[in-house]
Amino acid sequence: MTQTAIAPRPKKTILRALAGETLPVPPVWMMRQAGRYLPEYRATRARAGDFLSLCYNPDLAAEVTLQPIRRYGFDAAILFADILLVPQALGADLWFVTGEGPRLSTLTDAAGVQALRPAAAIHDTLAPIYETVRILRRELPADTTLIGFAGAPWTVATYMVAGRGTRDQAPAHAMMAADRQAFAALIDRIADATVEYLSAQITAGAEVVKLFDSWAGSLRGQDFDAFAVAPTARIVSALNDRHPGVPIIAFPREAGPRYVGFAAATGADAVALDNGVSAEWAAQNVQRPGPGGCVQGNLDPRHMVTGGTALVDETRRIIRAFAGGPHIFNLGHGITPDADPDNVALMVETVRSGAA
Ligand code: CP3
Repeated sequence: MTQTAIAPRPKKTILRALAGETLPVPPVWMMRQAGRYLPEYRATRARAGDFLSLCYNPDLAAEVTLQPIRRYGFDAAILFADILLVPQALGADLWFVTGEGPRLSTLTDAAGVQALRPAAAIHDTLAPIYETVRILRRELPADTTLIGFAGAPWTVATYMVAGRGTRDQAPAHAMMAADRQAFAALIDRIADATVEYLSAQITAGAEVVKLFDSWAGSLRGQDFDAFAVAPTARIVSALNDRHPGVPIIAFPREAGPRYVGFAAATGADAVALDNGVSAEWAAQNVQRPGPGGCVQGNLDPRHMVTGGTALVDETRRIIRAFAGGPHIFNLGHGITPDADPDNVALMVETVRSGAA
């Protein structure tokens, strides 16, 4: 029997970088690329009524996900949702106070952990999110990668315990100190739910998933191992079993020296870097050629407000620093509402001009 040679389909740039390939021009997207700095986002959010109604309306959530793709042609779209939908699906009350941020019912002891819904029950609440993913896979341009996401257990726990965002995550640290077993049980419950949630996003069409551990930087020593590394490793391993070949990006924000070896310790395909580490240091110590060595991020989001030659210079410096290995261009944290959309265009143009 003769075999017909089938030319391999050219993989999307983000998937190539995540597989460990060094590309001549890094693919680019931005954290919070669908957001308040865009007038079309603000208009769609007003149509939805409020932020949570927008998250749970698949047509409008897909629409805001697509807006920055139409404007800038990013290499990836990130599902529009929020990390706090998981606590809500586990039974927490959740609401957003305009101008202030999220509020949740608090959970501070073993009884609170006991009262959470089982992981398998989250799909009732989160079904609209999976529908958003399905719409996006139909509507996104063929060369755009769809990224799903969830919060990492530690970061999600900090909001569930405190009932809001905190600067130092003191309430979660206090629960950890008062009843480490109950706190570990909370982390496990969130990790189970996160596996269910990301697995359902992948089944619906997400091609990559990202774990946001925004408050990883406040974990020290063995607490970092127990509550940032271990739960991430458990989620990665469960997702790899269920969905082999779907890459995972980990974002242990402000991990500093703990970025070193984080991908290897967790099995993540890439780590996202905040802007607290230098690109040159990360190129030496975090980025590696080949699979598991991809880095993403690092540009200070302030440049999206201030623009100009500093934006161009910093963009080029980061590209030069990471040119020797797999790299996805991104910011070190989410773009802020006061950013100028023209600066985003300048950043994308600078990345794609390849003149580093
Ligand atoms: O990146 C994207 O474009 C995808 C959507 C996305 C949102 N939140 C939409 C959002 C993602 C990936 C997130 C992640 C998220 N949510 C994190 C982790 C990343 C990070 O920023 O550190 C955290 C900690 C949250 C929780 C959360 N959601 C907070 C603390 C806030 C209030 C702060 C703020 O920026 O207003 C939100 C609200 C939120 N999530 C907005 C958006 C676009 C703004 C809401 C609005 O439109 O008023």
